[in-house]
Amino acid sequence: MNPFPTRPLADKVAIITGASRGIGEAIARCYAGAGAAVVLASRKQPDLDRVAEEIRAAGGEALPVAAHTGDPNAVARLVDTAISSYGGIDILVNNAATNPHFGPILSAEESQWQKILDVNVLGYFRMAKACVPAMQKRGGGKIINMASIAGRSPQPMMGVYCVSKAAVIMLTEVLAVELAGLNIQVNAIAPGFIKTRFSRALWSNPQIHDTVVQHTPQQRMATPDELTGIALYLASEASSFTTGATIVVDGGYTLGSGFGLGA
Ligand SMILES: NC(=O)c1ccc[n+]([C@@H]2O[C@H](COP(=O)([O-])OP(=O)(O)OC[C@H]3O[C@@H](n4cnc5c(N)ncnc54)[C@H](OP(=O)(O)O)[C@@H]3O)[C@@H](O)[C@H]2O)c1
Repeated sequence: MNPFPTRPLADKVAIITGASRGIGEAIARCYAGAGAAVVLASRKQPDLDRVAEEIRAAGGEALPVAAHTGDPNAVARLVDTAISSYGGIDILVNNAATNPHFGPILSAEESQWQKILDVNVLGYFRMAKACVPAMQKRGGGKIINMASIAGRSPQPMMGVYCVSKAAVIMLTEVLAVELAGLNIQVNAIAPGFIKTRFSRALWSNPQIHDTVVQHTPQQRMATPDELTGIALYLASEASSFTTGATIVVDGGYTLGSGFGLGA
């Protein structure tokens, strides 16, 4: 097997949720460049249209479909549209997430818990459940769940989100075991601090930004493009024996702070 073919996703169909900006957008552009037809999902159609137009202008194939992953009917419509447009599904990237609560966990309202779990956990489950029959028809597939280092160690003021990302990691492991016999590999990516709108509250606050950078051996935050290599690996034939893994991409942040201080 050549692990680095020119177009490793040629003839593949990929659905990417949260593809209108940030990490999802970067992955969608990368997959399109690697030869996949990409189905772009998020709640806002105009933002998706912009990304799809740019992908097409660069020679790629893209279909923008507005869908709230917290809505089972919208998820069903999204998956049906992908299948009727491109004939099947090979790759699912569960990436859309939300975090409406910032504060100590005991200050969170039940409605905030429900919203976070509905999108971040049930949304990933819903998408997987809807896509697996189509993957089975193609003889296999790839599911890539966007977790977070927050799913491995508690991060301040975002406890509910941490719990949801820990659930994503376990969901990944359960699906990996249960779908292995269908030749569907299921893996997660656990990013550290990536500069996107989602994390703006962290990087736009100089005190938080500087603390994070000081505690990161690579001494910086990342851009969304720096997650595309691992996302491409997990979507391609190169990862044929990788399943149930959660791959941390954090510049060394979770290793501890001692090496980041330049001593
Ligand atoms: N940035 C970081 O530092 C970081 C670190 C670790 C993990 N992550 C994870 O990486 C993933 C992407 O985050 P990001 O930083 O790229 O965020 P982002 O730039 O804010 O993008 C979030 C995307 O999700 C979409 N979205 C939000 N709620 C949705 C819903 N209910 N249904 C469908 N789409 C929805 C948004 O579009 P609409 O508004 O149009 O719906 C947008 O496309 C998330 O799972 C996040 O937890 C991020």
